[in-house]
Amino acid sequence: MCGITGYVGDSDALPIVSSTLANLEYRGYDSAGVALGNSELEIYKAEGKIGELTLPDSSTARSGIGHTRWSTHGPPTDENAHPHTDCTGEIAVVHNGIIENHAELRAELGAEHTFTSDTDTEVVPHLIEEHWDGEDLLDAVSAVVDRLAGSFAIAVLVEGRNEIVAARQDSPLVIGHGDGETFLASDVPAFVEHSRDVTFLEDGDVARIEPDGVEIYHDGERIERERTAVEWEAEAAEKGGYEHFMLKEIHEQPRALRQALTGRVDALSGDVDLDLGLPEEYLQSLEEIQIVAAGTSYHAGLYAEQLLEELADVRVTTHVASEYDVGGGRDPWQTLVVAITQSGETADTLEALRSAKASGARTLAVTNTVGSTVTREADETVYIHAGPEIGVAATKTFVSQVATATMLAVALGRTRGALSRDEASAVLDSLRGLPGAIQQVLDREAEIEAIAQEYADREAFFFLGRRLGHPVALEGALKLKEISYDHAEGFAAGELKHGPLALVTDDVLVLSVLTQGSNPEATLHNVAEVDTRGAATVGFGEAKGDGSVLDHSFSVPEAGLLEPVVANVYMQLFAYHVARSKGRAIDKPRNLAKSVTVQ
Ligand code: F6R
Repeated sequence: MCGITGYVGDSDALPIVSSTLANLEYRGYDSAGVALGNSELEIYKAEGKIGELTLPDSSTARSGIGHTRWSTHGPPTDENAHPHTDCTGEIAVVHNGIIENHAELRAELGAEHTFTSDTDTEVVPHLIEEHWDGEDLLDAVSAVVDRLAGSFAIAVLVEGRNEIVAARQDSPLVIGHGDGETFLASDVPAFVEHSRDVTFLEDGDVARIEPDGVEIYHDGERIERERTAVEWEAEAAEKGGYEHFMLKEIHEQPRALRQALTGRVDALSGDVDLDLGLPEEYLQSLEEIQIVAAGTSYHAGLYAEQLLEELADVRVTTHVASEYDVGGGRDPWQTLVVAITQSGETADTLEALRSAKASGARTLAVTNTVGSTVTREADETVYIHAGPEIGVAATKTFVSQVATATMLAVALGRTRGALSRDEASAVLDSLRGLPGAIQQVLDREAEIEAIAQEYADREAFFFLGRRLGHPVALEGALKLKEISYDHAEGFAAGELKHGPLALVTDDVLVLSVLTQGSNPEATLHNVAEVDTRGAATVGFGEAKGDGSVLDHSFSVPEAGLLEPVVANVYMQLFAYHVARSKGRAIDKPRNLAKSVTVQ
């Protein structure tokens, strides 16, 4: 997964391409490059971030393409950075995805073409060179796209022409319409300050992008695609005075939650309106829900599993998307497969969704991203409405996913007769109180920062939780390891004594979820076990029992079944401040990228 941008218009293309590219660095940042369309193409590319690229102050180019890379084929070097060119240097290509048949195509192109990189991408400009007759670039690119296997979003720029040709297959591309100028990118935040009038390309589309408009072709036929107005403002994709996007997004959680709940919840009547679009009879007779997701979304799935089983009285299993198999002994017609994915573009999750569909199951997407692939492929979509999340580490989208799952569980529980009106009202009351409860935790940031500084140098960090506290423990550990690079693991608290306890020394910090819904009394026994072995301990929530086994205790405001996600906010802040004290690249941790569009 990488980021692509493009511009054609009346202005200097250089600052627009480089700034829109910088907005996409969350997609990858191990090398970057720009091609500017002039009478001769100008190409600047190098290993490192876009900000480290040596670029002129200005240019006379009116068109350009850019790329920020997360390596798949070939290490991050100057040579492997995009754009890649053909033998003449007249055709430049940027690409996101993997071209699976690149070796075969490279062999076919043979010794007549000189390759300068190890990338799969480089076959594309050379193939275009074979088809290019100086007339219609879209024809040449379409002919090449027909030869490519795998996933790709590509943008092609040829010297002396004020147009970009782009093609999409399993990798996102969006066009932004301006006044006499047109933008192209992998994701809307790239150009949202310039245009909020967008068209999402679909798989199989090839588009000619010119200053005054766009022509889109599918299977050789000219087609029209819908234009969508982006609702959020440009500031939503900026740091707004925070040092990092991650910190801003942690603090945005109360607002994100209010957006998720707006117009959907009636706590008085116990009703939820998610505009689900699945027939009531189907939901009533549903035998099983399978959740598929990756990373943080998988942890939200584990949380959702418990809520759905408890509130909607339905059997639920949660699957790491890359390991998903529909499984035997099920009636696919009575199985709803729910894909939880912030980006809506995670290849593993999309693949799981496709195999579920192929088996005959109905599918539902829970996502943050309007127009994303998952929304086009799932039968139904529910948005979490968290607003753009730029930090690579997911924060506000986790809590918004859990809140959306809670609404889903209540809606299903009501439809299935598993939940009385009063029971539903009580859960919805907790949900409505969630933004305020999270705000109370955010207000204690300075205290958690002090703990983070005190323990930042511990050898390892273990997170414990039971029941609803277990996914939160897993999420707490994931957050810490991905941004601080420390050894962090989350455990079901009761499992500790079955092996992991051997890892506990006096150089370890153990953080535990001790809220309602997480069987805190039992977990406190496990805290005692690590305390005896010399580990330092921090607890989030209050358990009845011997509190003296905790070195530090943070109260969690009352939030019913949602209390563990409130505790999670302390863990997010802890991870952030440990990473900050170590000077880590918090918004762009090493080796990671925001949206993982490869399997
Ligand atoms: C962790 C993180 C990743 C994502 C995972 C799935 O902070 O961000 O683990 O949660 O890559 O991404 P989505 O939700 O976009 O499918």
